[in-house]
Amino acid sequence: MAPVLLVTQDLRTEDDLVHMRAAVKMHASDLGFSSLNQTKIMTAASELGRNTIEHGLGGLVIIEHLREPERNGIRLTFKDEGPGIHDHALALSDGYTSKKGLGLGLSGSKRLMDEFDLISPPGTVITVVKWM
Ligand SMILES: Nc1ncnc2c1ncn2[C@@H]1O[C@H](COP(=O)(O)OP(=O)(O)OP(=O)(O)O)[C@@H](O)[C@H]1O
Ligand SMILES: [Mg+2]
Repeated sequence: MAPVLLVTQDLRTEDDLVHMRAAVKMHASDLGFSSLNQTKIMTAASELGRNTIEHGLGGLVIIEHLREPERNGIRLTFKDEGPGIHDHALALSDGYTSKKGLGLGLSGSKRLMDEFDLISPPGTVITVVKWM
C-alpha cells in the first residue's frame, strides 16, 4: 500500500526542531510504537533534524506511515540544499565531525533505526525507517 503522508515541516530554527520532535513523538505513539522505540525514533529525528539546520543550512522533514501487509513503519526524510556530504563513510564513522560536535549524530541515528539511506550531493537527503 502507498505510504501515508502524516506531516511535512520546515526545519530552520530551534523552534522548528521542538515542533518536529513533538510531531514525531505523537505520530510514533499513535502508530503504536513501544515507548523504547518512540525514544529511539525521537533521538534519531533530533540528531538528523539538527544536522539539517546546522550543516545543511535548513531544509525540511517529511513524516510518513509505511503500510505493508505484515508490518507498519514510520519513515522520516530529511532534505536540505546545503553543501552536501561528499565522503559518506567518513561522515558515518563514529566521532567524525566537521564542526565541533561529537560526531555521533549520523552513526547513532543509523544504529537506532532499521533502515538508513543517504543521498548526497547535491544537497542532502537522509531517509530512515523504523518498523513495528
Ligand atoms: N545535512 C548535512 N549536510 C551537510 N553535511 C552534513 C549533514 N549532516 C551531517 N553532515 C556532515 O557529517 C558530519 C557528521 O555528522 P554527525 O551528526 O555524525 O556529527 P556532528 O553533527 O558533527 O556532531 P554531533 O555528534 O553533535 O551530531 C558532520 O560534521 C557534517 O560534516
Ligand atoms: Mg550532528
